[in-house]
Amino acid sequence: MKENAAKKTYQKRFERHFEELRWLYMELFDNSSMFAELCDKMEVFYQDRKKDLKTLDKKREAHQDWYKQNDMLGMMFYIDNFAGNMKGVQSRLDYVEKCNVNYVHLMPFLETPKGRSDGGYAVSDFRKVQENLGSMEDLEDLTEACHKKGINVCMDFVMNHTSEDHEWAKKAREGDGEYMSRYFFFENSYIPSLYEQTVPQVFPTTAPGNFTYLPEQKHFVMTTFYPYQWDLNYKNPRVFNEMMYNFLFLANKGIDIIRIDAVPYIWKELNTPCRNLPQVHTIVRMMRMISEIVCPGVLLLGEVVMEPEKVVPYFGTVEKPECHMLYNVTTMATTWHTVATRDVRLLKKQLDIVNSLPKDYVFLNYLRCHDDIGWGLDYGALKSEGIGERSHKKYLNDYFQGYTGESNSRGELYNADPVTGDARFCGTTASMCGVEKAGFEQDEAAMEKAVQMDVMLHAYMFMQSGIPVLYSGDEIGQVNDYTYKEDPDKAPDSRYIHRGAMNWELAGNISKKDTVEGKIFRRLEQLEQIRKKEKAFVSNADTWTIDTWESSVLCIARCFEGEKIIGLFNFSEFDKTAWINETDGDYVELISGEELKPIGVNIPAYGFYYLKRK
Ligand code: GLC
Repeated sequence: MKENAAKKTYQKRFERHFEELRWLYMELFDNSSMFAELCDKMEVFYQDRKKDLKTLDKKREAHQDWYKQNDMLGMMFYIDNFAGNMKGVQSRLDYVEKCNVNYVHLMPFLETPKGRSDGGYAVSDFRKVQENLGSMEDLEDLTEACHKKGINVCMDFVMNHTSEDHEWAKKAREGDGEYMSRYFFFENSYIPSLYEQTVPQVFPTTAPGNFTYLPEQKHFVMTTFYPYQWDLNYKNPRVFNEMMYNFLFLANKGIDIIRIDAVPYIWKELNTPCRNLPQVHTIVRMMRMISEIVCPGVLLLGEVVMEPEKVVPYFGTVEKPECHMLYNVTTMATTWHTVATRDVRLLKKQLDIVNSLPKDYVFLNYLRCHDDIGWGLDYGALKSEGIGERSHKKYLNDYFQGYTGESNSRGELYNADPVTGDARFCGTTASMCGVEKAGFEQDEAAMEKAVQMDVMLHAYMFMQSGIPVLYSGDEIGQVNDYTYKEDPDKAPDSRYIHRGAMNWELAGNISKKDTVEGKIFRRLEQLEQIRKKEKAFVSNADTWTIDTWESSVLCIARCFEGEKIIGLFNFSEFDKTAWINETDGDYVELISGEELKPIGVNIPAYGFYYLKRK
């Protein structure tokens, strides 16, 4: 009887999507037997799905907004850095809970060759956990333990490429045509050189070009990222099918959120930039339907590090959704621009764009992540202020390296391209706020200022629409880690400066009021509690900015079911006045508990207020 019910559930989901899925598949691949195989396999993965996961699927299907609540708070970390291995993470879940985090992003943990891993983003086996981190059973134990505590688990699905050590790549190297056709192989440089005319570079300094020559095979292979990351050819339906099976296999291990890595890159076409092509959207849409059929409790998070007009289409439409969530990357970069310039105008404009989007779109907000900051700003708007792209990037990079007078930041450049003059930036939130410099100089006043700015930035991030994600270590103000320079595998990649191991000794200070860790942790905790409690923080609340007539002060307002909160954030090291005039009631400041009228509000240097209408 129960089995029958399960079958029915599956059939219903399958029938709901069958026509569209078949249509898209045939449009892309025109291969009905491969489509039939996909359908058969989907059912097998559904049958293999554990009972408790199926129960969760049903629950989430019935409450589709489950991830849009104001208690959602993420944290991302590398398993080894955070706790050695999967079992270690399991034993640290109490700390995760203490951070009020209910969604953990486990950075890449699948098998990857040492020294040629790109931080785990070069997968050599999609069904095997790196030995030093544990096993698939450990992963299942961990996701189960997380679910018991109400913590969701996110993992990367690196679908654009495989490692050169992947079984397919090995067979392709041996000249097996079947496997060569899963990648992009070329006998000579002619076609690659045509691609190079229109395809930009991801790593211009650390891995220039988009192709790698394999002398033994006398062939070129497409490698958009590092030479050891071979781009998969999604024109081959075998690649699509097999990668979908890998996706479902991992989903069945209890993963709640699948981060589709580098999604804009997955379809290649000559004479195009090979980014964001329409076929990418077809593939993501199919992936969404496949997951809604087999594992509807799983969310798709798209990693689209592009300008806003390229990002938003990855949400799809209301009738044909693609990703559930996307990174708010332009806002993140613009935030740091604002830190350097003390001028909130560009950030206000950027937030206005995000706030004008449908409220159902869920963005992941963050200050820092494992990658560099690419300075993808609205240069059109800056141009009208007389600010040029190249000179401004140089200014930001100089600023955050601590080269200009009023900067307390520390960090390093990433992929500085001598040809274009372009460079990106690496560093932790705390180091960029001045915690590292103040600590080194034992300057207490400077440390106060740095901590204040760090907390203000988090308070502002919590006020944005969507889900905030902490970068592990930020909750205790962890600074840059320069030890990567001693490891020859890591030394050329400065992103490792902000991928240091969690310092548990310092984390031990969180209960001590006078320590940097204690100050940051406790103040963030207070903000997290407020965010959890106040309905105005739900992801689909009305959100807008208010002009403060003070260029260093940003004002964000949120309103949900009549509950209204105004956030004021001073991005300057001087006290400022926000010339706002909200006369729609009495307000209380949620951190101090004091009454405060939102009319001409004085805000201390790097200060902030959360004002709630009573
Ligand atoms: C994503 C990851 C980045 C990696 C790249 C290639 O952008 O965030 O760390 O280098 O994909 O897989």
